[in-house]
Amino acid sequence: MPAEKSIYDPNPAISQNAYISSFEEYQKFYQESLDNPAEFWSRVAKQFHWETPADPEKFLKYNFNISKGPISIKWMEGASTNLCYNLLDRNVRNGLGDQIAYYWEGNHPDDYSRGLTYRKLLEEVCRFANVLKDHGIRKGDRVSIYMPMILELPIAMLACARIGAVHSIVFAGFSPDSLAERMFDCKAKLLITADGAWRGEKPLYLKEMGHSVKKCIVVSHLKRVTPCPLDHVEEEIPWTDDRDYWWHEEMEDKEPACYPEWMDAEDPLFMLYTSGSTGKPKGVLHTTAGYLLYAATTFKIVFDYKPGDIYWCTADVGWITGHTYVVYGPLANGATSVIFEGTPFFPGNDRYWSVIDKYKVTQFYTAPTAIRALMKFGEGPVLKHNLSGLKVLGSVGEPINPEAWLWYYKYIGKEQCSIVDTFWQTETGGHVITPLPGATPMKPGSASSPFFGVKPTLLDECGIEIKGEGEGYLVFSQPWPGNDAPLYNNHETFRGHLLLQVPQASTALARVSHEVWTAFHCDFKRARRDADGYLWITGRVDDMLNVSGHLMSTAEVESVLTEHPRVAESAVVSRPHPVKGECLYCFITPNENEVFDQKLISDLKKMVRERIGPFAMPDVIQNAPGLPKTRSGKIMRRVLRKIAVNDRNVGDTSTLADEQIVEQLFANRPVEA
Ligand code: PRX
Repeated sequence: MPAEKSIYDPNPAISQNAYISSFEEYQKFYQESLDNPAEFWSRVAKQFHWETPADPEKFLKYNFNISKGPISIKWMEGASTNLCYNLLDRNVRNGLGDQIAYYWEGNHPDDYSRGLTYRKLLEEVCRFANVLKDHGIRKGDRVSIYMPMILELPIAMLACARIGAVHSIVFAGFSPDSLAERMFDCKAKLLITADGAWRGEKPLYLKEMGHSVKKCIVVSHLKRVTPCPLDHVEEEIPWTDDRDYWWHEEMEDKEPACYPEWMDAEDPLFMLYTSGSTGKPKGVLHTTAGYLLYAATTFKIVFDYKPGDIYWCTADVGWITGHTYVVYGPLANGATSVIFEGTPFFPGNDRYWSVIDKYKVTQFYTAPTAIRALMKFGEGPVLKHNLSGLKVLGSVGEPINPEAWLWYYKYIGKEQCSIVDTFWQTETGGHVITPLPGATPMKPGSASSPFFGVKPTLLDECGIEIKGEGEGYLVFSQPWPGNDAPLYNNHETFRGHLLLQVPQASTALARVSHEVWTAFHCDFKRARRDADGYLWITGRVDDMLNVSGHLMSTAEVESVLTEHPRVAESAVVSRPHPVKGECLYCFITPNENEVFDQKLISDLKKMVRERIGPFAMPDVIQNAPGLPKTRSGKIMRRVLRKIAVNDRNVGDTSTLADEQIVEQLFANRPVEA
């Protein structure tokens, strides 16, 4: 039986105690959430503190009809609150002061574990908020954060939220150039960083940026200020007086209290850059009230988090998954989480399982690429540890192949856990299509059903809605509170852009009723609905790549490659990879009279690593004396994708300006490819 035909019922022990205990119950709430979103989400809002309460009449106002004006979505207009207050002060007031908010597990197992209670976290956040204020940071200012997975990271984020500054986190795996580009784009007034991070055996130096940072606060992490059982790095890091300040010195004399800034419901909370297919990173903006409601609700329901549970999300806080499901969602629920600095492979391939055992983790959330990488070592490393506390296993970042799903289910979950394959994006703020642990019978590889408030619609090539079974363009026709703010995304521009990028979608989009909003901007999706109504994300319709869950555009990498003085042109395509999901396969046309040699290959790899980050390293760089182009000059990428996998079944190439080039490219495939 093909895997997708098998259905796995939730463990009755989980269903019994779950917030949503049956599929019927899910359907009932789901229908309510679509029929009356304002009523549904205002019930959710009651648990939080609103300095100015929402006017029920204005709980949700939106326009998806372009002919009636610009697209806009406003949740709780007129209400005011503060995210940090809701995540920390409110929980402390409700008696959770002594509860651990975060356990910190360092890269090395002998590094000291640190635990921060809600009370202590609140104090640290207030002290750092006062540091920011002393450095002139005010409501609305942008603050960039470039940090490893240490507790100072959520402290810095929440301190920004407390004073109404907008944080813009750049994943520490990005290069200093990528950081500089993003800081410039968001006009950051200050940077918070660390001297470095530990990754397995080696320290990684973060503070090497030579660009125009105006002010910089630096956590001493490699060189520990507090006693540390490990050898720490003694090396001096680059330092500029009157620009750079040590975190610990700044914190010394600060008050552990700071009055929160009350923010309007639609005031910005944070910006986060994601890949747009233009090659330039796109700043996604999330606002205050809606994001709080959605992060809190998806966390609670999708992970079925109950008091006493210990939750661990392995995602880096530098990605949206870390924002919503390491910081905002868990803290909004008064949860206890683990933050882990290291890698799944250090000091052994059982590290994840040992951390789950050590903290008695009940909900574990990771990416398919990690599961596939760990599957290779078999069950041995898993059996060394007691994983019996686990209830819910999450997956995010890319489609999980049924083989990895089954391994996760069988060997990690011992066939007792629910697997939640959560489909969502930076722009969606939180999960949009996902099973619920106690309610949804699971199909390996299917993200299953929409979350509350989310109304996915499939459109065929003619823009007609596919009601039952079928495959088509995935759009959303109702707003949910996690939607990003249209302000930064400028939906109409993206809509237009999409039409250019994806000609095959244009008929569909042209006919789409104006009431349908395409949430997916650049990273446009296709999905299939099966006979049982389950949704399967089938792929993208544009030129994006997803390497180990890191989304990037081919254009982004191409623009770096073509900067090399010896390169005339480049084209990057995605190739399936057994562990990373996808990898980069690059075609390079050298300039006239230039040779394609090993030096060029290593130069290009180095450039990509430096300009974007190590995760974007190409797997293959191939010599392409020419690229397969149509007469209008458009590169036929589907042909390149076939060459990358050595599949001669290239289809119709008659519209190519020079058909010979295809054969030549097959002949030029490097041996190692
Ligand atoms: O391609 C989809 C993939 O990740 C993209 C979004 O990337 P980003 O904005 O960086 O956010 C990643 C974390 C939410 C999507 O367009 N993706 C994410 N989760 C899944 C997925 N594809 C299939 N199934 C998933 N569960």
